[in-house]
Amino acid sequence: MSRLLLATTNVGKQREFARLLGEVSESIVTPQQLGLHLDVPEPHDSYAENASAKAVAYCHASGVATLADDSGIEVAALDWGPGVRSARFGQTGGDPDQLLEAVAGEEDRRARMVCWLALAVPGSGPDGTPRAPRVELFSGVVEGALATERRGQGGFGYDPIFLLPSGVTTAELPESEKDAVSHRGRAVAHALPRLRQLLAGPAAAGDHA
Ligand code: IMP
Repeated sequence: MSRLLLATTNVGKQREFARLLGEVSESIVTPQQLGLHLDVPEPHDSYAENASAKAVAYCHASGVATLADDSGIEVAALDWGPGVRSARFGQTGGDPDQLLEAVAGEEDRRARMVCWLALAVPGSGPDGTPRAPRVELFSGVVEGALATERRGQGGFGYDPIFLLPSGVTTAELPESEKDAVSHRGRAVAHALPRLRQLLAGPAAAGDHA
């Protein structure tokens, strides 16, 4: 089976991907395992562009098919921000307490979590000459609301303040239940058939564009 480079050093994301990818996770290699230390900026206004930039940079550097993720939380009371800037929100960046402070007293608590995945596949011409990686995109969204205070010990990032319609935060759910409904779970479900096909063998890898 071929390898799939997972272009993230976020431990919370790595753990989720390992669960969500099922048997495909046996093919995963991490940037650390390949000795790759890339600092890819995320300057774009869309998740898709940021995820693509990351996937292409890692794919180019490694020659290995690469899956990258860009995700964020979107809050109605913040004009659906911070969105693509979620990791940099507040002074310390990505801090749930600072997000709660920013919406303190707001009645409209609607929020959603968004995930975009970019799969970069190494390209080669008919004569084997390298070509730019080709990118395929998958996305997932979960609608919910902001809690008024942190609840739950599970998950990571904004999970303790993201309320599902059932009234629990994603940090209060067992991992398997978060996976079944989360933005990342949904995006991975869309990507899995393609990943299985890609990793099944060279003929399916699509390296003959
Ligand atoms: P990025 O995709 O690494 O740019 O992360 C965006 C921000 O959203 C970071 O602060 C993450 O911690 C947060 N985040 C991403 N995915 C999740 C999730 O599944 N639950 C809670 N927070 C998340």
